[in-house]
Amino acid sequence: MTITFTTETAVRRPAAERAALMESPAFGEAFTDHMISIDWERDQGWHNARLHPYGPLVLDPSAQVFHYGQEVFEGMKAYRRQDGTVVTFRPDANAVRLNRSCARMAMPPLPEETFVEALETLVGADRDWVPDRPGHSLYLRPFMIATQPTIGFYGPSSAYRFMVIASPAASYFTAGAKPLTVWLSQDYTRAAPGGTGEAKCGGNYAGTLVAQAQAKEMGCDQVVWLDSAERRWVDEMGTSNLFFVYGDRLVTPELSGTLLAGVTRDSVLTLAAELGHRAEEGRISVEQWQADAESGELTEVFSCGTSSMITPVGFVRSADGDWTIGGGVPGPVTERLRAELTGIQDGSRPDPFGWVH
Ligand code: COI
Repeated sequence: MTITFTTETAVRRPAAERAALMESPAFGEAFTDHMISIDWERDQGWHNARLHPYGPLVLDPSAQVFHYGQEVFEGMKAYRRQDGTVVTFRPDANAVRLNRSCARMAMPPLPEETFVEALETLVGADRDWVPDRPGHSLYLRPFMIATQPTIGFYGPSSAYRFMVIASPAASYFTAGAKPLTVWLSQDYTRAAPGGTGEAKCGGNYAGTLVAQAQAKEMGCDQVVWLDSAERRWVDEMGTSNLFFVYGDRLVTPELSGTLLAGVTRDSVLTLAAELGHRAEEGRISVEQWQADAESGELTEVFSCGTSSMITPVGFVRSADGDWTIGGGVPGPVTERLRAELTGIQDGSRPDPFGWVH
């Protein structure tokens, strides 16, 4: 299906204002001049694709999204490379994942080529907003909401809007690559088998805020989620996936249905194997995490995600005790993977996988 985008050009903000917003952007607080919207109705499918000025929406207060949370989103980045070109990273993977989330939330799939074209159209219009400072990027937030005006909960909405907005970003964790302290959440869980844990839907995030607040109260940066049945197996961390490094071997929790299939997670599995590591999906229990960290067999732990990239985890805190991983300093495997992946994105290293778009 080809869909044609119409354009309504925004009054662009003056270069000095844009430069000030891009200087040291707080994550997700400032937005570019334009956005994308595409509508879906049951009898018309996707239509009315448009690039238009960024601004507030007018929606009926009864729109289903406000009441029953039928919503999915994605997160990805555009990078300005050293040669001046602007690229995105694996947008096709985000397109596929958006549609997996849509399937779980009973929402209509968006053709993958339309997803990619939407990103290209927005980044093309607002390319001056793509930062050129190392580590900075333009964060892209595609999302889809249910717009049918009804609070009758009869079934999936008969109307949706897909949108993309963009926000200049420094790194997500303000402390950069400083090792994180994480809190093992034993009071709350994020997802249960058969639930929506592997969909990227807003409700999954809303339900974690109280646990994240508890982590902060305990002096931690992030919360670690355990499985909901036994509260024993590690799922993921906050809004990122986790990797456990045993010297040359890397293990990440398997995609059991309760955790998000991160694009960065998938990229790290591929990249680590290419760099000569054994990279596996498996199960890690809390007891094993503690025992292996204390024996020194577990040398590093890191989190990975689009917004936060690769960030070392140095300290674990829980109701049953605390432990340190690898002396609480960033380890060589974490640093190498971070440098290699960043290098593929910023063009300072070759891209043997064809990830850069
Ligand atoms: C991302 O890494 O893109 C995310 O979706 C995390 C977000 C909650 C900031």
